[in-house]
Amino acid sequence: MVTRKSLVLGMAGLLAATGLSVLSGTAEAASTLGAAAAEKGRYFGAAVAANHLGEAAYVSTLDTEFNSVTPENEMKWDAVESTRNSFNFTAADQIVSHAQSKGMKIRGHTLVWHSQLPSWVSGLAAADLRTAMNNHITQVMTHYKGKIHSWDVVNEAFQDGSSGARRSSPFQDKLGNGFIEEAFRTARTADPAAKLCYNDYNTDGVNAKSTAVYNLVKDFKARGVPIDCVGFQSHFNSASPVPSDYQANLQRFADLGVDVQITELDIEGSGTAQATSYSNVVKACLAVSRCTGITVWGVTDKYSWRASGTPLLFDGNYAKKAAYTAVLTALGGSSSGGGGTAACSVSYSKQEEWSDRFNGKVTVTAGSSAISTWTTTVTVTSPQKISATWNGTPTWDSSGNVMTMKPNGNGTLAAGASTSFGFTVMTNGNTAAPTVGSCTAS
Ligand code: XIL
Repeated sequence: MVTRKSLVLGMAGLLAATGLSVLSGTAEAASTLGAAAAEKGRYFGAAVAANHLGEAAYVSTLDTEFNSVTPENEMKWDAVESTRNSFNFTAADQIVSHAQSKGMKIRGHTLVWHSQLPSWVSGLAAADLRTAMNNHITQVMTHYKGKIHSWDVVNEAFQDGSSGARRSSPFQDKLGNGFIEEAFRTARTADPAAKLCYNDYNTDGVNAKSTAVYNLVKDFKARGVPIDCVGFQSHFNSASPVPSDYQANLQRFADLGVDVQITELDIEGSGTAQATSYSNVVKACLAVSRCTGITVWGVTDKYSWRASGTPLLFDGNYAKKAAYTAVLTALGGSSSGGGGTAACSVSYSKQEEWSDRFNGKVTVTAGSSAISTWTTTVTVTSPQKISATWNGTPTWDSSGNVMTMKPNGNGTLAAGASTSFGFTVMTNGNTAAPTVGSCTAS
């Protein structure tokens, strides 16, 4: 029975359980892309190639500036299932574990695409192809279940030009229009927590191709076919510049009730012209509340798939280009101000609960600068006792009620990135939520 008093106590418990986010030393503007985007409630990511993760400058630029990654090729069909039903996740796993260790989000790219598709798939007859497609989606998504923020379920299913027609592909030609719906339904079952995106290029402005995608999403929404987001690749150059109706196009998709994400941004060029185009893209995303994040298609010009067009934010020596500064400024950040102060915030949430104990989880988030380590406290009320901890190194005061938690090993976090630790509280009859102290970082 819920009495008035227990309701009030419940509220106090709820407040404690919610955990006040204490962010110190963040008066100055964010100094990295990830942190500046985080302050706008968005992520800023980069496409990453596993074979560069041994290069120190590549990794430090990635870890400092970005808080989301997309494997550039490592999750594609030819990379993970080059032979039927024999899956190889080695390279993709390297990217995923690196991203997870830095608290970065991960975009999954991509499950069903006509390109980078092994020839055994294109050789299958319809019924077998359907089985293979659904198996591929299920196996890959199950392997990464719970780790992927958004999946590009289907990539590039429409033709360029004015027809608004579907692109010819093994999936389209043998399974017909229904293959996209089937892929999304299979994907929802495989990992219900992942956002499911349709992703394409030359759909950045209002045109026949983007309208065909728009009609697909509208139909899915009307019929309850699962879809959560639309990815706009946004590969731009002089022949295909940032469209003047870019923001309006993002907005019309958002108005259908899906998130929009800029998934593969790169803009060929240099200097002020390139910087201005980048700035316009960022401003368009910020102006659309459902534009949840931006990913650039690589870290450095030297490894870009369009390297000769120098389309990215860092040059071949990892120096920040004018385009970098334009993006940071458009995000509301600033590179002046001495690099910012190390800071972190904490939030608490209750996890599993049993009759005699419950698990707590504390998420530690770096402020607007990268941090090398952090410390926070968790205080329980006697006669409660913390009986176990994980993902952290605890020390205790003499009462045993105040636990000081530090990282387990390497405590580095990119600006705006998160990590978490957990613990079990034996209630001994008292189910009060623990109090989480403020977070300090250096
Ligand atoms: C590109 C990669 O960047 C290249 O390394 C690879 O050789 C070909 O694919 N649309 C997409 C991306 O969805 O997967 C493509 O990535 C670029 C176009």
